[in-house]
Amino acid sequence: MSTDNRPIGVLDSGLGGISVLRELVKLMPGENFIYYGDSANAPYGTRIPEEVIDLTKKDVEFLLERGAKAIVVACNTATSVAIKELRAAYEEVLPVIGIEPALKPAVKAKEHSKVVVMATPMTLSQTKFNSMMHIYEDDANIIKMPCPGLVEYIESGVLNGPVLDAYLEKQFAPYDKAEIDAVVLGCTHYPLIRSTIQEVMGEKVRLVNPAYETALELKSLLTKMDLLSSGEQQAEFPYRFYVSDLADEFKEFANSILPYDVTMTRKIDIEKY
Ligand code: DGL
Repeated sequence: MSTDNRPIGVLDSGLGGISVLRELVKLMPGENFIYYGDSANAPYGTRIPEEVIDLTKKDVEFLLERGAKAIVVACNTATSVAIKELRAAYEEVLPVIGIEPALKPAVKAKEHSKVVVMATPMTLSQTKFNSMMHIYEDDANIIKMPCPGLVEYIESGVLNGPVLDAYLEKQFAPYDKAEIDAVVLGCTHYPLIRSTIQEVMGEKVRLVNPAYETALELKSLLTKMDLLSSGEQQAEFPYRFYVSDLADEFKEFANSILPYDVTMTRKIDIEKY
């Protein structure tokens, strides 16, 4: 068995991928990570698919240039629109995995459950999500809940308070909350406001964060491909963060939610990639 101490590259349109990084680090504490948040171009969900594909390719090019051994597309929107193109372009070079709104754990929790999937309008409109929904449609009542504007709130640091409460209450107003069994957090930004959503929905509703499954999938892939690290972080900064805008704000935010010191945060010009 060989070891590979190159970093794992994690990308998102902005802050959201941190919720995935958190799970990756928990499961693989000996790995080095490079995170890229494309904050200058967030949100991706309001763009046309071709733009999202181009932006994500630039993100991957940057992470590749920094020596990534694998890529995690820690963004449901980018995964649903661009994962096919990314795999076609890069799979010969390195493994690329994505994240998608996990319906299985939500649907299987109970017979004939009522499940709400919160995600960006773009994720919910893509064939990728709708084909998956089709598989589970007979087992559960699945409600698609597009959440326009929610990524923007989170990117601007609104994680709780009356404005967010009012947004969520309005979103759930058409439904009887007591009848909802699970809510899928189908955008990687949403676990960052998990406690606010839980408060609005009540303690009984199960919130499903697909990041854990993504971390398991990556670990199993790295194991199979003999790409796991030696278990000791070699780099001076085992977690390196790059953004295309608002580096100080990002650093402060990342420090508030990650269980280790986020010291290395830099702004880069993504247009060069
Ligand atoms: N974190 C991204 C996701 O998982 C946000 C999408 C966006 O930038 O619109 O979908």
